[in-house]
Amino acid sequence: MNDTRTARHSAKNTTAFELGASKPAAGRVGIEVEKLRVVYDGFIAVADTSFRVNAGESFGIVGESGSGKSTVLRAICGLAPKQAGTVQLLGQSNQALPLPGSKPFRRLVQMVFQDPYGSLHPRQTVDRILAEPLAIHDIGDAELRIERALDEVGLGMGFRFRYPHQLSGGQRQRIAIARALILEPQILLLDEPTSALDASVQAEVLNLLEDLRGKRGLTFIMVSHDLAVVTHMCERLMVMQRGETVELLSAADLAASRVTHEYTRKLMVASTGFRRDAAKPSTQGEPT
Ligand SMILES: Nc1ncnc2c1ncn2[C@@H]1O[C@H](COP(=O)(O)OP(=O)(O)O)[C@@H](O)[C@H]1O
Ligand SMILES: [Mg+2]
Repeated sequence: MNDTRTARHSAKNTTAFELGASKPAAGRVGIEVEKLRVVYDGFIAVADTSFRVNAGESFGIVGESGSGKSTVLRAICGLAPKQAGTVQLLGQSNQALPLPGSKPFRRLVQMVFQDPYGSLHPRQTVDRILAEPLAIHDIGDAELRIERALDEVGLGMGFRFRYPHQLSGGQRQRIAIARALILEPQILLLDEPTSALDASVQAEVLNLLEDLRGKRGLTFIMVSHDLAVVTHMCERLMVMQRGETVELLSAADLAASRVTHEYTRKLMVASTGFRRDAAKPSTQGEPT
């Protein structure tokens, strides 16, 4: 990141905060999932899973491939066939919270997928990709919001009229994050948001997410097969195996190897190391 861009970035953020649009609403929102069960043609992908994520918390879901992690996130958004259980938003005030699946719910809860190739339309410019959710939700100020979103993810207006194929993997994922943030949600569901990226780019995008969470007071549910990533990013986590919850534990317990289940221990051994020292931003040129 060069100095000019850093300076421009902070100046824009100040403007955005002065406008008040980026401030988290009073009474931040958490989420509670109770006895969630998802069944595909008789196959139980998620079995009676329960967890609660407090407002502003970052909660991890780990487990081997096929354990049901993505299905939990998809069910929260109404994208998987929920057979039983409830998903509830939790407010700190008495404000009425939207029902799952409703348009106001989708404005509060946004998802970022693993594969930005798949989730960004190849024939749409960044501008169109970012304008679409605003149009769907009848939100004005598109110009200002697009500019702010691009700045917040460390890209800037120079990227506005590019197509996905003109971006690197990390830049594409930054656009996917910008698209999720442009609606000013309070909860982000992150499904392996960096696992398609090289290690150094992965670290940069994770640092960006961490900064955004702090700045906006966001609540995260982050899925990863990499325990090191989740230990670094989350306060608590759930370990899943074959659709079931194996254990719920704090990241501190995991980091200190205070785990009770053999399966979690196996995952720890299998997990690749997340190197925070790889997170140093590049010193010149565009963000990766
Ligand atoms: N649309 C679907 N139809 C049928 N089975 C599915 C579908 N999506 C996921 N599954 C199955 O549900 C299980 C959990 O999948 P998923 O949640 O994607 O796992 P993870 O994200 O942990 O890798 C897997 O066995 C998968 O094959
Ligand atoms: Mg998955």
